[in-house]
Amino acid sequence: MRRLRTHPKLRDLVRETHLRPDDFILPLFVRHGENQRVDISSMPGHAQLTTDLLADEVAEIEALGIPAIILFGIPAHKDAVGSDAFDDVGIVQQAVRAIKSAGLKLLVMTDVCFCEFTDHGHCGIINEKTGQTDVDNDATLEILVKQAVSHARAGADVIAPSGMMDGMIVALRQGLDEAGFTHLPILSYAAKYSSGFYGPFREAAESAPTFGDRRTYQMDPANGAEALREVLLDVQEGADMLMVKPALSYLDVIQSVKQAHPSVPLAAYNVSGEFAMLKAAAANGWIDEQRVALEVLTSIKRAGADMILTYHAKDACRWLTNPG
Ligand code: PBG
Repeated sequence: MRRLRTHPKLRDLVRETHLRPDDFILPLFVRHGENQRVDISSMPGHAQLTTDLLADEVAEIEALGIPAIILFGIPAHKDAVGSDAFDDVGIVQQAVRAIKSAGLKLLVMTDVCFCEFTDHGHCGIINEKTGQTDVDNDATLEILVKQAVSHARAGADVIAPSGMMDGMIVALRQGLDEAGFTHLPILSYAAKYSSGFYGPFREAAESAPTFGDRRTYQMDPANGAEALREVLLDVQEGADMLMVKPALSYLDVIQSVKQAHPSVPLAAYNVSGEFAMLKAAAANGWIDEQRVALEVLTSIKRAGADMILTYHAKDACRWLTNPG
């Protein structure tokens, strides 16, 4: 086996997996206010930005060759139903318009969910009528559609629902079609696990639940076969692209989803906790950040992901264009 490893050019020739800047989608956090950049302590290099700072930031991202960003919003006011999320002048809608009116060409994806917008931090409307305090699936579908249509009106290019409500994709497809957005693709967070790796994100997006957890809607980390059912339903309901999230502890899920649906584009979300662990170890001098980050991203692609949502997107592009 070593004959093919002797020469660096030979290693290049036989390499099976290649990372490129256009594999990446960069998450961005937008907040209310003006001229503020609020650093996220658990995610070094990342900050919540006010919408007036977005055009410059996004221009830099576009210049690096990154094809897409995904927006998460932190509204000025939260309430029980997360009204800012479906307000035409809500924080995400303002952010999309700011980017579009600056004439930037990269794809603007929007996360469609409620946890950043509700005062209780859950991903939908809480229903106490059933005796059990829980997210009301079908009531949430109605406001998810309102949110998605409002994002579409603001100019979003791709809608990415992450709330893990049942029937979410068919409801969104119908709602978008009826509102005239038949062309708008849906990237479904199809297999999203109830994961401890979202810890830093909840600081970043100020979206930690004030009671309970998300186990009644997000998947149990112990389940692999169940992901195939989630994914099949989403494909049948009309998802254009699928996602597995998190990525690193779920490479087996990425691989089996790709094998089950080879023709459906698959994204993987290299989440906040995965990024934070790597940053912390690198800051201590325990690992080489560039080497390990590129190894992580390569392994996610090798497992079967066609695209990767990652907080390392900007650095990875710089490293790929200027190795060494
Ligand atoms: C829900 C959402 C979450 C993430 C993306 N979309 C948080 C959650 O489900 O609690 C996490 C992403 C990350 O950790 O990087 N809107």
